[in-house]
Amino acid sequence: MERIAEFLQPPVYVAGSVIKGFQRGRELNCKTANVDPKSYTEELLALPEGVYWCFAKRAGEKKIHGGVCSFGVNPTFKDVPLTLEVHIFNEFKEDFYNETLQVLIVGFMRKMWAFQSLEALVEWIDGDKEYAKSLLSQEQSKELLKDNAYF
Ligand SMILES: Cc1cc2nc3c(=O)[nH]c(=O)nc-3n(C[C@H](O)[C@H](O)[C@H](O)COP(=O)(O)O)c2cc1C
Repeated sequence: MERIAEFLQPPVYVAGSVIKGFQRGRELNCKTANVDPKSYTEELLALPEGVYWCFAKRAGEKKIHGGVCSFGVNPTFKDVPLTLEVHIFNEFKEDFYNETLQVLIVGFMRKMWAFQSLEALVEWIDGDKEYAKSLLSQEQSKELLKDNAYF
């Protein structure tokens, strides 16, 4: 089990409503915004299931945040349909269900795994956050925000 850093060429942009997931993120120290599968594009569906670093923006706000996201069926849990879940590096006070979230998926960092324990999943997610932050600070990531090309 390892992480890599593979920039998508080109990055994948998706915008969709935030829907309720299973609400497990709170227990995992990792709240996620689940993007409505109705908005999944062909480009997104062509991606391998896995964990990615990304930028995200609530449609009604100006600020673009960094984030880390998972795209897949969350194999640790067995009952989950294919979902894009975004953990945004910002403490929002409120939930924002039904709002549109814009997501730019920048690169692939690892496959999703079925973990034997929640502790192991949490430990990997914590590491994913740190790794995503370091990748977001790279020039190649930041360049995507120039010229308002996506947001
Ligand atoms: C950075 C990140 C990495 C994740 N990696 C995995 C994984 O390897 N295996 C897995 O089963 N789920 C993974 N997930 C998905 C979590 O299981 C999921 O976000 C959590 O169960 C909350 O889901 P919910 O919003 O439907 O409640 C990951 C989620 C994030 C944000």
